Amino acid sequence: MLQNEIVFREEIAPDTYRFLVHAPVIARKRQAGQFVVLRVHDKGERFPLTIVSSDRDEGIIELIFQAVGASTGLLAEMEAGERILDIAGPLGRPTHIERFGTCVVIGGGYGMAPVIPIATALKDAGNRLIGINGARSREHVILEDRLREICDRVEVCTDDGSYGHRGFVTDVLREIIESGRRIDFVLAVGPTPMMQAVAELTRPHGIKTVVSLNPIMVDGTGMCGGCRVEVGGETKFACVDGPEFDAHQVNFDMLMLRQRMYADTEGEAAKMFLAHSTPVGACHPQGEADHAQ
Ligand code: NAD
Ligand code: FES
Repeated sequence: MLQNEIVFREEIAPDTYRFLVHAPVIARKRQAGQFVVLRVHDKGERFPLTIVSSDRDEGIIELIFQAVGASTGLLAEMEAGERILDIAGPLGRPTHIERFGTCVVIGGGYGMAPVIPIATALKDAGNRLIGINGARSREHVILEDRLREICDRVEVCTDDGSYGHRGFVTDVLREIIESGRRIDFVLAVGPTPMMQAVAELTRPHGIKTVVSLNPIMVDGTGMCGGCRVEVGGETKFACVDGPEFDAHQVNFDMLMLRQRMYADTEGEAAKMFLAHSTPVGACHPQGEADHAQ
């Protein structure tokens, strides 16, 4: 097998892909919560993807992403046997894992992918886990079986009620909190408004809550400043100080403003990609419209 070779590829939901990639050094070193930054072609942008799992012996890493723009669209078109141009990692701080007690792990949409490695590490540390898996509709629910293998209890919800509870992940979390059961720790990964809503729900109850942020990222090594976020009134760089932060300290409004900075350029690049032109406009920092972490 060649370095960075895609050894397996499948579409697990509409426009959502699972790749197994030969990257032995990353597979050996990675810990829960870490990510890679990849580049698909030599004029392409760099974008981050969470390492969902790894097989240290086989030297394989698992990546799950949604094709939402030019770069992730190009990655999605790659086949098993092809090689990804660059993969840098493992990057970011590993998740802080301890025995909290009862943890609720929440994934919104394909934000479920980064939840899997963290939930696995929390379970291995002896925590009791309740998983909440939310998506727009049944066909967009991903990794439910994997979550069930890890968690003691799993609740699935869809916005349209086509599967599981009808409503947002926050509706399910509210019910669990209001049932009076003790919750010691909450982890939430998904769209930024979802993570903000989770933070506001747990704040009055004083429940320790961690979110994995997905700001614009370029180099992933603390050099470019692209991933600047405000946490507790201080400037942090999500790639080296995070990507996980105390949800009650994050300035989500600033994060959302910065995520939209390159929306126009990203839209143009996506249009060119769909028209099967070279995505020259894709050489820009990573943002919300094409974010795949
Ligand atoms: P989506 O918009 O379909 O939302 C998924 C679920 O999140 C919804 O079903 C709902 O349960 C919940 N949700 C959404 N908005 C909410 C709100 N305002 N309040 C409460 N709950 C809300 O998600 P998608 O289209 O699959 O996109 C996934 C999103 O996750 C993207 O925005 C992507 O950038 C983000 N993401 C983030 C990370 C990360 O590391 N933070 C990783 C992967 C994906
Ligand atoms: Fe450049 Fe974080 S991605 S500083």
